[in-house]
Amino acid sequence: MSNWVRAHTNIALIKYWGKADEDLILPMNNSLSLTLDAFYTETSVTFDDALRSDELYLDDRMQDLAALKKVKTVLDLVREKAGITSKAKVMSYNHVPTAAGLASSASGLAALAGAASLAAGLELSSEELSKLARRGSGSASRSIYGGFAEWQKGTSHETSFAVPVDDADWDIGMLFIVVSDNKKDVSSREGMSRTVQTSPFYQGWLDSLDDDLSAMKLAIKEQDIHEVGVIAERNALKMHATTLGADPPFTYWSPDSMKAMEAVRALRDKGYSVHFTMDAGPNVKLICRQTQLEEIRTHLLNDFSESQLISARPGPGLHVVSRPG
Ligand code: PMV
Repeated sequence: MSNWVRAHTNIALIKYWGKADEDLILPMNNSLSLTLDAFYTETSVTFDDALRSDELYLDDRMQDLAALKKVKTVLDLVREKAGITSKAKVMSYNHVPTAAGLASSASGLAALAGAASLAAGLELSSEELSKLARRGSGSASRSIYGGFAEWQKGTSHETSFAVPVDDADWDIGMLFIVVSDNKKDVSSREGMSRTVQTSPFYQGWLDSLDDDLSAMKLAIKEQDIHEVGVIAERNALKMHATTLGADPPFTYWSPDSMKAMEAVRALRDKGYSVHFTMDAGPNVKLICRQTQLEEIRTHLLNDFSESQLISARPGPGLHVVSRPG
């Protein structure tokens, strides 16, 4: 039987920004995302008594201790649950269409949660897998599911996990504008903690979330692409505004991010329903009709190159694959 597990990445429409508990990775707010077909990670785990320490290979390259840290957290939880003491060899392949440097922590840690529990003989529910993935990287809790998923913040390890919201079997797509593949200066972990601790705008962010979340759920239910985009864009802008108020202040935007935002606004002036969102990096993700992805991409080719533009559609949840590739 194969022990390869595939998880797809997700992009939040309502962002997770700030931790209530740094160790357990409990968030300050609920978040809601769409899982996508275009980017995924495939991982296999082998527990082996002959190993003296855990090993992580990413795209066939052995990773250092820093990269192993989140992975070890998940492996330790699986070992504890299954009563295993042996170390593990983790093989992981990231499938990203170009050298885009797009966040792979969501798909990576979700695939690891699936592969490690499979290798340990644990039969975990989606809810349990979501909690396990969460301990590696918060956003990974949502990549257990295909379509839309909501990470319910909870108040403890046991009560903080994602649930499916709705399938995404309708005319919604995303288009990535890759403006940079550089490693980010401020990691999401550091960015969140600095913002929570020092930004006077953080409370304003938290206060506006319930309204954004309930409006988003309604828009998804009604399959209203315009409303989904409007709410996602304003939610992302609010999240990024909190970083400007932090001490020291920072931003994930680059001049090219702003060029991409302007291109989106110009497309709206042409009559397209298209909005953007951004995460802890300069790349810009467009939310639009799946049936207009190619048309919109063609317009954007005036300002960006082929390889900077990647179309994505809703993708599936965590699943076992026969072999990597
Ligand atoms: O899961 P992390 O620690 O990589 O944090 C992700 C944070 C954002 O991408 C900015 C927002 C989100 O909800 O995915």
